[in-house]
Amino acid sequence: MKFASYLVIFLIFLFHCSNGSNLIPQSCKEASKHDPNLSYDFCVASLEEASSKCHPPPTNFEDLVGMSIQLTESNVTNMVSIISNLLENKSFDQYTKACLKDCFDLYSDSLSALDDAVVAFKSKDLDTAAINLSATFDNSVTCEDQFKDKKGETSSPLTMENRVYFQLNVISLAFIQMFRQHY
Ligand SMILES: *[C@@H]1O[C@H](CO)[C@@H](O)[C@H](O)[C@H]1NC(C)=O
Ligand SMILES: *[C@@H]1O[C@H](CO)[C@@H](O)[C@H](O)[C@H]1NC(C)=O
Ligand SMILES: *[C@@H]1O[C@H](CO)[C@@H](O)[C@H](O)[C@H]1NC(C)=O
Ligand SMILES: *[C@@H]1O[C@H](CO)[C@@H](O)[C@H](O)[C@H]1NC(C)=O
Repeated sequence: MKFASYLVIFLIFLFHCSNGSNLIPQSCKEASKHDPNLSYDFCVASLEEASSKCHPPPTNFEDLVGMSIQLTESNVTNMVSIISNLLENKSFDQYTKACLKDCFDLYSDSLSALDDAVVAFKSKDLDTAAINLSATFDNSVTCEDQFKDKKGETSSPLTMENRVYFQLNVISLAFIQMFRQHY
């Protein structure tokens, strides 16, 4: 009797732990099947890093979705401040400046949408969270593409950042869609 209950506790512990450590790779794998834009390697790397800074780290999919949305939100906050610093730089030409201003507006819109997505997710309003996350989906692409409209003349100072942001947004959107299906 006593042994049996120890065994049960041990098995629960084992299951819980192995479940926890596979959570991110498994979720990223599933998400990458749903969305060809999602990079599995980026997904695992960025979520493992965020998870290691998270106290307590997520141990179930719901918490992971929440962490992913918050990561996207904190990244869009970074983007807004990076762009506003670039706008202070006098050495950019007029065309680049105009593009940066558009990017600033796009990311400011994304920030409001992400703020709403965080609140919606916390109150379990998954439909609203999904709407808010898909509204931001194209913004980083639009930001990046306008620099290419004037070929050879200018290059985007935000290419790397736009790519990172796009991936984070794709992950959150794929996750919320997976979560809605299983909820
Ligand atoms: C992948 O991203 C592009 C934008 O770069 C978008 O037009 C396309 O719809 C996305 N594909 C899916 C399946 O979401
Ligand atoms: C301003 O932009 C130029 C061109 O991209 C860059 O070389 C320079 O380091 C920037 N200056 C500051 C203060 O960021
Ligand atoms: C988030 O979605 C809700 C529901 O569609 C909408 O009312 C709200 O305006 C959206 N937020 C933003 C910033 O777009
Ligand atoms: C968030 O954004 C910054 C700037 O775009 C980027 O350098 C950084 O790697 C991103 N952070 C995460 C956790 O992805």
